[in-house]
Amino acid sequence: MDTRIFLIGFMGSGKSTLGAQLARRVDYKFIDMDHLIEETAEMSIPEIFNEHGEEVFRKWEHDILYELCRRENLVISTGGGAPCHSQLMDLMNTHGTTIYLKLSPEALKNRLIQSGAKRPLIMGKSEAELLDFIKSLLEKRELFYKLARHIVDGINLKPEALEKLLQFPD
Ligand code: S3P
Repeated sequence: MDTRIFLIGFMGSGKSTLGAQLARRVDYKFIDMDHLIEETAEMSIPEIFNEHGEEVFRKWEHDILYELCRRENLVISTGGGAPCHSQLMDLMNTHGTTIYLKLSPEALKNRLIQSGAKRPLIMGKSEAELLDFIKSLLEKRELFYKLARHIVDGINLKPEALEKLLQFPD
């Protein structure tokens, strides 16, 4: 099994929940990139977007991912936008195993509505606006997400299934 496992996918696809469960099963450390950025900056993600802007957030995302690629035995839950800039998908593919948790725009919308997490890109959107936003952004982002080593259906996904995939990759 690779020494770094990257879970990638859109906001609300379950990367953090599944990542923490998977890390326990394989006895790796779990890293939530967003939390690490928040801890390092001593600010929440919405505060970072407000005070520094998205571009700075993307730069920090890049720096933290490079740093994580020097560490071992990690399951990393990446932010939804991380694979889509600065050739970070290439970086992750050369430093570990990438797994795309794929869900439909409708399923993502439902999960994001239920989730209490504050996400600057979708704040203040109505349900209809949210669905349109997800559809159009997901279409662009899937060009990157689909470069993952594994693509799995994120509905009813269990950490056991991910563990099996890592142990028996083909
Ligand atoms: C973002 C996703 C968020 C967080 C930031 C930007 C994105 O992470 O990194 O709000 O661009 O899709 P999650 O995918 O963990 O929600």
